[in-house]
Amino acid sequence: MSAAKLFDLTGQVALVTGASSGLGVRFAQVLADAGAAVVLVARRADRLAAVRDRIEKGGGRAVAIAADVTDRAAMTRAFDAAEQAFGTVTVLVNNAGVVASGRAVELSEADWRRVIGTNLDAVFFWSQEASRRMLAAGRAGAIVNIASMLGISVTKGVAPYAVSKAGVIQLTKAMAVELAFKGIRVNAIAPGSIEFPGGVWDQRKTDNPTLYERTLKSIPFGRFGTADEVAEVALFLASPHARWITGQVLSVDGGQLLGA
Ligand SMILES: NC(=O)c1ccc[n+]([C@@H]2O[C@H](COP(=O)([O-])OP(=O)(O)OC[C@H]3O[C@@H](n4cnc5c(N)ncnc54)[C@H](OP(=O)(O)O)[C@@H]3O)[C@@H](O)[C@H]2O)c1
Repeated sequence: MSAAKLFDLTGQVALVTGASSGLGVRFAQVLADAGAAVVLVARRADRLAAVRDRIEKGGGRAVAIAADVTDRAAMTRAFDAAEQAFGTVTVLVNNAGVVASGRAVELSEADWRRVIGTNLDAVFFWSQEASRRMLAAGRAGAIVNIASMLGISVTKGVAPYAVSKAGVIQLTKAMAVELAFKGIRVNAIAPGSIEFPGGVWDQRKTDNPTLYERTLKSIPFGRFGTADEVAEVALFLASPHARWITGQVLSVDGGQLLGA
């Protein structure tokens, strides 16, 4: 098979959480462009519908399913609906994520639980559900978890976020070692600072220009990353190009972590 053909995801069903904005929209688009039928999950149904319509207009196949990733019953319904539409989910991108900023001593219990519940607990339960269904169907597959460079290094004011992403990295390795025997690969991406319209770094450019400039200086490439630069790595990890790769964390950060 030619190297280019290894990016072909025809016949795969890819479920992307957090597909209503930011990186998740690009993950869904890139996977659909590669031929996967795409299942879009997030809470904002109107935004999901717009993403679905754009993918379909471009000739892709997509279904939008409104669900809160922290709701286990909604998760089961989402996988059932995905199967009804396209068949067993064989690619799962755990991308939905939230942040809570502020010093640990001032953090509320609600903020701690919201971040850990969304960024870590949900990644476990969605991965568990996806792999149970792949095993039952006798299908191999790929799980791609979106961690963060803050799961590896740390700064002030990010305790629950950093803990959740560090947990995702260990979860990636723990599930990879258990699922490899059935051909299910589990990998993670640790993005650095990614800038796109409406994204956190786009907002900080005006809200907190000092932090924006300091962060920019910390990136050896001298610029922020783009959503495409992360999405294309997700495609690589989801595709047969990465068929001998599991349990790995790929930093996609322009070298940002090297100087941290
Ligand atoms: N942008 C960066 O620089 C950067 C860097 C490192 C890592 N990351 C990680 O990349 C991922 C995407 O980040 P982003 O920058 O694209 O953020 P974003 O634009 O805020 O998007 C977050 C997505 O998660 C969804 N989401 C949040 N809570 C949810 C819930 N309870 N149930 C279902 N969906 C939920 C949101 O959809 P709804 O609100 O519609 O539910 C939205 O689609 C996150 O895991 C983030 O930690 C981002």
